[in-house]
Formats: sequence, structure tokens, C-alpha cells
Amino acid sequence: MNFPTNVKHEKVRNWVAEMVALCKPDQVYWCDGSKTEYDRLCEEMVEAGTFIRLNPEKRPGCFLARSDPSDVARVEDRTFICSKSKVDAGPTNNWKDPKEMKEELIPLFDGCMKGRTMYVIPFSMGPIGSHISYIGIELTDSPYVVVNMHIMTRVSSKIWDVLGEDGEFVPALHSIGAPLEPGQKDVTWPCNPTTKYIVHFPEERLIWSYGSGYGGNALLGKKCFALRIAGVIAREQGWLAEHMLILGVEDPKGEKTYVAAAFPSACGKTNFAMLVPPPAFQEEGWKVTTVGDDIAWLKPGPDGRVYAINPEAGYFGVAPGTNFESNPNAMISCAKNTIFTNVALTDDGDVWWEGMTKTPPAHLIDWKGNDWTPETGQPAAHPNARFTAPAHQNPVIDSDWENPNGVLIEAFIFGGRRSTVVPLVYQAFNWTYGVYLAATMGSEMTAAAFGQVGKVRRDPFAMLPFAGYHMASYFNYWLRFGRQLAYPPRIFGVNWFRKDENGKFIWPGFGDNMRVLKWVVDRVKGHAPSSESPIGWMPRYEDLDWRGLDFSKEKFNELMAINRDQWVEEVMSHEELFAKLYDRLPKELIFIRELILSSLWRSPEKWQFQAEVAAVPGE
Ligand code: OXD
Ligand code: MN
Repeated sequence: MNFPTNVKHEKVRNWVAEMVALCKPDQVYWCDGSKTEYDRLCEEMVEAGTFIRLNPEKRPGCFLARSDPSDVARVEDRTFICSKSKVDAGPTNNWKDPKEMKEELIPLFDGCMKGRTMYVIPFSMGPIGSHISYIGIELTDSPYVVVNMHIMTRVSSKIWDVLGEDGEFVPALHSIGAPLEPGQKDVTWPCNPTTKYIVHFPEERLIWSYGSGYGGNALLGKKCFALRIAGVIAREQGWLAEHMLILGVEDPKGEKTYVAAAFPSACGKTNFAMLVPPPAFQEEGWKVTTVGDDIAWLKPGPDGRVYAINPEAGYFGVAPGTNFESNPNAMISCAKNTIFTNVALTDDGDVWWEGMTKTPPAHLIDWKGNDWTPETGQPAAHPNARFTAPAHQNPVIDSDWENPNGVLIEAFIFGGRRSTVVPLVYQAFNWTYGVYLAATMGSEMTAAAFGQVGKVRRDPFAMLPFAGYHMASYFNYWLRFGRQLAYPPRIFGVNWFRKDENGKFIWPGFGDNMRVLKWVVDRVKGHAPSSESPIGWMPRYEDLDWRGLDFSKEKFNELMAINRDQWVEEVMSHEELFAKLYDRLPKELIFIRELILSSLWRSPEKWQFQAEVAAVPGE
């Protein structure tokens, strides 16, 4: 094997040589992360039919890819945590013994890259050289993966110098699982339509992914490395790898407060990360800036505070629903130099997706490559269609987004999609209450993929699909992490999705979430008053800034009401998750549950501000 002269790391050389011997590619290409490399691969994919070059006048530097219809999303049921012991993976993960898993996978990887090129991608998660960053090396037979990795991570031949002869790295092997026989014609989206495996070996910090070319299954720096494997590393080393956006709030005096927020998929995370404040706030000088939209790595500083980086360099955003009203900053981010996957193509060589404009174009080519008109009766873009856009194109990117020391995090926000029960915002009484709040977070399902639409799926910390080890050990670790901090960030719960009795959203959401964010910032700084409810501190009507929004006190009280019976039912339903995790569940969570229950029983049937305190049951 020929190695580039700057690859001096023996473990890297041995591993690449071993994987080449196993996968048997026709050739090996060492990526350097350059623009020339990116342009060349894109051009080759245009020639192969994998990419369609979009109209350079409408979308300069942009391409459209259409995946195989069997390869459109992460495959949670094919995702495995292969720790040595089953208990360490915990009951929320699929598990198989690592030795058995390798025995099952080696025959699949054997010769899987025949007729193709193996690309060696050296990448950094986080700014190259930051003490919070980490290096990975992905081997893949997909040029689509290479160009997406160029946008989503920092791919560079400088990585070899940072690694030196013995630096740490995460090895990540990826194959689309579609070898080509001599003379066999390739398809535009090769993948393995029947066999997919996304496998993590946490003790070896190793990733093997087979059969899919899509998103989180194939861009291994993202969910596989930055969340599942990094989570394991973080626990060992005393930091956190979280499924969180990071945003900055700048007040009119120029004071910045950063918050990190976790929401399950399909809760508008990218919109929140790029929030546009209402006009009255903007005029006064309030600004929201983005550090990251999906993943945060958080480390305690020597001052007992928490600092975070966004390990990614781009956005792999969900396209449908994004428009100039819901998220103008995302629209601008993907205006150029973007790869679109599974969106629709317009007749003038631009892209379209459901929700982009109020009226759809009269004719499109849909995500499957077929003619489409508004009468077709099927979505033109796949609901999980994506844009891969460079983060620096975001007009509200934070000036410190690449600060190698990270930004100071002062609050954590957790929120799911709940049409009932959960109020607009509340603050946990303390860190332990906050861990309880995050651990029991639930969200109503919007896609049938995970079960019954509308049913609440518990998604602790929005990490259900991304925890690299036992979920209850993860809760324990969060409790431990907070204890060592002199200044732990404050913890808040939010819910933008509560509905009235007619099934209408009560809260306008989007930019108006700024009103909640301002209260959060004020609480963190110790300025904002609040009221004590059975579940936490809550703002009263007069504690929120209502300029420019006609929202009555009655409506607000409805949005914030704590209905005792519903909450008792809610808290009792946490038991289902706790019972599943019982072997490692921290005792603190059981006691907090009891505390909340007893507070609820001592509150009126419907707890609202200024409500009369009803007689305490049983007294
Ligand atoms: C994502 C997800 O794609 O959370 O970011 O599913
Ligand atoms: Mn995500």
C-alpha cells in the first residue's frame, strides 16, 4: 500500500491497510479537503448521474441528489451499540456481542468495495487543534459522503500533522454495500436495499456502517461519532456530548448569553437555532446568533462553568417546512454551495419542497424523478429531504462559533412536542429537578415510523436514538456532572406546541419564542421574577415582554395552566420509562417524582397564577 508521506501514524496505516484488504476497493484515494477535490468529485457525480447541477443563476454551486427510495432516513432498528456487556448498552439500544457482530459483518464487508474507490477522509469534529475537538477518519466508497463530509466537518490533510505518530482518532468504516462486477453499470444511488447495519463498538471507539448512503447512517462524524461514540469518551473524560443546538442572545447593551437546547427530531430545532426576534426586539437591539443547530460538546472550565463548541461545520437540515417566514436564515444558508437530497426540481433548475411557498409550482420533477403537479396527491419532496449547507453561510452565525475554547453556556432548554399538559415554559428548581425534567421529556410522534402518530414517545434528553451507553447510567452521569460545577447552567422546559380545545396551537412560536428566551436569559442573570408552581418556577403574564403581540392574560394563563389530573397521569407515565431502566436508575429521580406528585396533590385542581388555593385533599 502507498501511504501519503505525511501519514506517519502506524495505527492509521495498519487500520487502513487492513480495511483495504477486507473491502477490496479498486483504488484508494486520500482526501485532502481542498476545494479542487470537492469540485472534482461533484463534477464526477454529475457525469455519473448522482448529482444534478442546479441552475447557477438561481442556486450557484448547488446540486441535487435523489436517493434510492429505500434509503431515505436514519435506520434506528438497524443501529447497534455493541458493548462487551449487554447491560452497558442498556434496554433502549439494540445490542449484539461485538465478536458475534464482527463475525456477521466481516462477510458483508469482504469485497464490498469491488469496482469502487475507497476514500480516506481525515476530519476534525470541532475547530482543528481545539482542546475540545476530536479527530476521526472515515473510510467510504461513496463520493456523495465525501462531499457532504467536506461541508459537515473539517476535512483536511492538516489532520495528519495534528495526529502525528500516535494521536487519538475514531476509526469509522462505511460502505454502501454495493460492489460492482466488471462491466456492471452503476446506478445513480447505489446502496444495499435489503441489508443495513449502523454499528458502534464503544470500547474500541469504532464505527462500522453498511448498506446506506444517507445522512446519519453514512456521514459518520455526525450521530455515530459526535453523539454515540463521543458520549462514551465524554463520560470517561468528564464532559458531555449532547443532541443540542447552541444559540447566543445579545441584549441591547451588547451582553451575550449562550444557551444550549435539546429537542427531539421534528420539533423545529434549526428554526430555534436561527430565531429572528420580533421587530420590537430587533429595533431595541436584541439579536440571536447561531453557534450550532444539532450537536454540542460541553466541557467544564477551570472556573467551574460550562463551555461548549459545535463540533460540526455545516447544517444537515430538514428542507420541508422551511421558508422565508419560518426560517429566513436557513433559506439564505442554503442559497448557494449546498447539496440538496430528495427535494423536488423546478422547471427552471431550482429546488422546491412542501411549505417553501404557499402555492406550489404548476409542474415539478419529484424526489423520485417523476413528473409532479399539485394534483399528483403525493409530496413532491420526501418529508425527510435535506439540505447540506456550510454553517458560515448563515447570516446570523455567531462571531465565536469557531472559538476553540467554546462559548459559556448559562442555560439548558429541553422541549418536546406536546399538545396538552406541558406549559410554555418552566424552570427546574435545581439541577436534579432539571435532570428529571430532561430524562422524562416526551414528544408526540409526527411520523408513523416510530409508532402511533400523536402518541407520546419518551425521548430522554432528545438522546433516545443517540445514547452510546445505558440510558440510566447517562442520567447518573448528568447528575454527577452537575455536582462538580460551581456554576451549573439553569435548566428549563419549554413546549411551543400546546393546543386549545379546538385543536389550534395556542402559541405563535417561531420568532415569538424570543419572548420566552428573554425570560430565560433574565432568570439566568437573576433579573426576572417568577412564581413557584408544583413543577418549577414559571413566569407570570407580566414577566414576559409582550411588545408587538396581542396575547391576552387569559390565553397565557391557559397556556401555562397545570392541570393536576393530567399532570398526575403524566408523572405516573414516567414510571414506564423508569421501570425499563430500573437496574441503573438513579434514586434521585424516584424521589423527585414523589416530590412532584406530592406537590401536585397539594395544589388546586388547575394550578394557575392567582388561582385560589383549593383545600388540600385528605385534610
Ligand atoms: C437529525 C435528527 O437528523 O435528529 O438531526 O434526526
Ligand atoms: Mn438531530
